[in-house]
This record gives sequence, C-alpha cells and structure tokens, in this order.
Amino acid sequence: MNLEYALNHPNVCAEQPVEDCGIIVFGASGDLVHRKLIPALYGLALRRLLPPRFYILGFARSEMTDEVFRERMREAITDAHGEQPADTLNAFLAMCRYTSGSYDDPAAYEKLAGRCSVCDLDFDSSGNRLFYLALPPELHPEVVERLAQAGMTSEGQDHKPWARVVFEKPFGHDLQSALRLDARLGKVLAPHQIFRMDHYLGKETVQSVLMFRFANAIFEPLWNRSYIDHIQISALESIGVEHRGGYYDKAGCLRDMFQNHMLQMLAITAMEPPISFQAERVREERTKLLRSIRPWPEDDPANWIVRGQYMAGPPNILPNTQTGTRTAHSALPDYRRERGVAQDSETETYVAARLLIDNWRWQGVPFYLRSGKGLQRKVSEIAVTFKRVPYSMFGMTSKAQMPANVLVLKIQPDEGIDLTIQTKQPGPKSCMSSMSLSFKYQEVFGVTPPNAYERLLLDCMQGDRTLFWSSEGVEAAWRLIDPVLDMWRRRPERCPLHRYPAGSWGPEAADALLVNAGHRWR
Ligand code: NDP
Ligand code: BG6
Repeated sequence: MNLEYALNHPNVCAEQPVEDCGIIVFGASGDLVHRKLIPALYGLALRRLLPPRFYILGFARSEMTDEVFRERMREAITDAHGEQPADTLNAFLAMCRYTSGSYDDPAAYEKLAGRCSVCDLDFDSSGNRLFYLALPPELHPEVVERLAQAGMTSEGQDHKPWARVVFEKPFGHDLQSALRLDARLGKVLAPHQIFRMDHYLGKETVQSVLMFRFANAIFEPLWNRSYIDHIQISALESIGVEHRGGYYDKAGCLRDMFQNHMLQMLAITAMEPPISFQAERVREERTKLLRSIRPWPEDDPANWIVRGQYMAGPPNILPNTQTGTRTAHSALPDYRRERGVAQDSETETYVAARLLIDNWRWQGVPFYLRSGKGLQRKVSEIAVTFKRVPYSMFGMTSKAQMPANVLVLKIQPDEGIDLTIQTKQPGPKSCMSSMSLSFKYQEVFGVTPPNAYERLLLDCMQGDRTLFWSSEGVEAAWRLIDPVLDMWRRRPERCPLHRYPAGSWGPEAADALLVNAGHRWR
C-alpha cells in the first residue's frame, strides 16, 4: 500500500465518521502489537481513516521512554509496509507515547490514568478511550478489573465519553473458563463496551461472503440441501508454530483455529439472512447457526474428527502464482522439537472434521472443516460443491461422471471467487470441458485486501460490534468443542494423534472422513 493509493481512494472503508479517541495498548512490547496492531493503525492513517484527534498510548512492564517506543513502532511499520516517507511516518509516530507498569499494581493504573488525561488534553481527543488487551489471556480479567477500580472504564452520559475494551482470543480455555471469564467481565463492563476480536471476521474476503450471499439474488435460492452436495472450509498454513510454541502447546489447533476462526467461517457460510446488517441481528444469526451444529457423537469419533501433529519435513518449493517464481521454504523441525513445546507433546497441530447442521436448510449436507500447520501451502477457502445434474443427455458421459459445479470463495491468498462450469469445447464435435469463471480481487481492484486488523480497529472506534464475537456465540462454540477436548483427554486411543510430515497435506486418516460419502479433499 502507498500514499498514492490513499489519495486516490479517500474514505474507501469509512461507513460513518470515527470519533476522536485514544487507544491504550496493553502488552505494547509484544508480538501482536509489532506485527499486526501498529501496522494496521498506520494503514488506517495512510487511508486517512483515523480520527482527526487521536493518540496511541502503549503500556507494558518493559521500561522504555516514549522515544524508544517510537523507534520500535517505526521498525514495526517499516517491517510491515516497507520504507515510508519520513514526514508521514514521523507525523504518525508523534501520536505515540508509552508508560510502563505492572499489570497487578494499582499504582501503575493511577499513573496510567494520569497519562491518559494528559494525552486527552494534549491531543484534544474528547476523552474517548479504546483499551486493547494484547496480553496473554490469563491477564485479561485482572487488567479489566483494575482499569475499572481506577475509574477508567466508566463512561459519561449517553456514552460520552466512551470507554471500550478489546479482547484478543482465546476467550477462555474451555467452556467453564469462558463462562467464568464472561461473568467477571460482566461485573465491570456493559456488553456494548466489550469487543471480542476474531481477525478472520475482519478479512475482506470473509466479509464479502455475506455480500456475495445476500446482495445477489442468484445464489441464495440454491444455498441449501436441495442443491448443495457438500461444503469444505479450509484454513491451512505452511508455517509451524514459530516463536509461539509455549502458547500453542497448551492450546492446540482445535482451540487456536477451530473454536474461533473456523466456526466463524462456517457460521457466515451457513447462517440465515439477518433481518438487517445491524450488529445484534448479524451476531444472533451466527450464534443460531453455531447452536444448530450437531454435537459430534462419542461412539466412533475417528469417523467424525481426526487430529494430527507435524513431524520434520523436507524443504518445500512453492510456486508463487502471482509472480510465477518459486520460493523455497526451509524445512520445519519436528513439532516436538520446537521451542516451548514439550518433547512428548500430544498437542494437535492439525484437525479435520465432518459435521452436520440440524436445521431445515442444511439437513444431511456434510460440512468438512480442516486446519493445520506445517502443511504444503497456505490457503484459506470455502468451497461449495453443488449437486450434479439429475440426468446427462450428452451421451459421452454418465450422470455420475459429470463434474459438479464448484464455487470457491478464496479467503487468502489469491483472494477472489472461482466458479467451475461445464462448457462445450470449440470445434465440430460435441466435447465438454470444465472451465472456471474467476474474479481476482487483485486484478479488479488493483490492490491487495487491507489487513483485517484495520477494519476491526475502525469498527471498535465506531462502536460497531457486527464483526466481533458475542458472549452467546463464544459459549455456543465452546459447547461444541469442549466434549471433543474432553474425549481426547479421557479416551485418547479412540481418536489417535496421527503424525504427518511437514510439507504434506496432513494425515491420510483425514481422507477417511470423506471417502464413504464419495467425496475427497480439494
Ligand atoms: P506476547 O507473548 O508477545 O505478550 C505480549 C506482552 O505481554 C509481552 O510483550 C509482555 O510484555 C507481556 N507478557 C507476556 N507474558 C507475560 C506474563 N506471563 N506475565 C505478564 N506479562 C506478560 O503475546 P502476543 O503479542 O503474541 O499476543 C497477545 C494476545 O493476542 C494474546 O491473547 C494472543 O493469544 C493474541 N493473539 C496473538 C497473535 C499473534 O500472532 N501474536 C494472533 C492472534 C491472537 P511486558 O513483559 O513488557 O509486560
Ligand atoms: C491466529 C492463530 O489466530 O491465526 C495462529 O493464533 C494462526 O496460530 C493465525 O497462524 C492464522 O491467521 P492468518 O490470518 O495468517 O490466516
């Protein structure tokens, strides 16, 4: 992205004006802030979508001056966006300040409150504050309670000024801890102040699924058990756990990806049309869908859900479809040798599951979900396979051989939409071939989609919770996931951990989930 783009596309995303505010970032010395948050805020500045009076106040235990913090943020921005014009970057950095303190020290919160008040005055930001908890989740409840004790979560009349808190996933470790967390938050925050982040919901192409479904008349009539054969939702990654082994080994793929991103993609794909695009209406429909997923049966679990863990694999040579070049990815070590991971770890880095939705629209339609690390290629997509034609009149092929139409909503990379259809090959003979109608985001709009955090941060500043988890949604998701975690713990032999070589497509056992129904992974 560059300034030229920003100048030519003013207000590309702004649906309503963003009120002046300050963003107070907890865990400002951490990975998420460096890689995602600050680059996203800078991206908003480039698009001129930040409010006119705005500041960023970092908070963490690490001691640093404002200047050192700014230098770190400069590095984060150039890492993500490349070299930037000095005046643009300096103007952004001038809005950044930092204060240190312990997350459990009341005096630190008094100091923070004082620093916020000074920033409110210096930047004339109306006293509106967005607190962003980029911290290990076990710290979230205490930090919010201490913020409340220091009076920082109180709002004025009619929410003027407002105070909002953004929580990063995971929201709890299981159902009980999620319910406890919710109860604690409920004591100090009103629901409208809580923003539970799921960056997949901020991905441009995930949001465009809603527009695709509900802003076009041609697909929705077909979007049901009468016309759809099955749906596959994939979020596959070639990277391993990288520097997050300590966190990941306690979480695993089911908590890290399924409980949140995968179920949100499923909900958006399968939910009923909301009566309006208002936050509560959209969130209700997503939650209703999550509640209608049939719990996985305890008997014969390997027929429904498969887990795997990557072993060392050879380096991967990947074609880059955009540049035509090939990139070598270094070999991954065995997961059990990753930093922060137990040497005898049984944590899953891959999960594939078959699930059914018990409602009128989807009765009997299998949904296949898979996600994992250390796989051949990074790809996230939703692939909808329609039923085959009822009868083949062309002689050269039987109905069973006639390829089905497949609609692929490509979340990343190569963002876009593909629809395969059958056509006649040119020539005097009656020959048929499959071809693809393709829409490529990059080709049409000339830019890559913005970072999901840009959209979501903007929504937080606008008070729009449409693309955030509701507490009911979190609970519904854990009610589905919890029994699986429990079964893996109690009866591991019923759903063994399959080891797969890094760079492959995951354990072969995952194929068995589909073959009985005559399907295969794309
Ligand atoms: P980090 O591990 O980088 O932690 C952030 C900061 O919190 C650290 O810089 C440190 O700051 C402080 N901290 C870390 N551990 C402790 C501890 N045990 N006790 C007290 N303070 C601690 O986390 P991330 O930035 O990776 O993640 C932040 C949140 O975002 C988490 O909830 C994570 O699940 C979520 N998330 C992260 C993603 C990522 O890619 N990183 C992706 C999706 C979600 P200091 O010591 O200076 O106080
Ligand atoms: C995060 C998970 O939420 O999503 C990571 O914690 C994962 O483990 C990441 O790598 C994937 O996000 P994206 O946007 O790269 O597909």
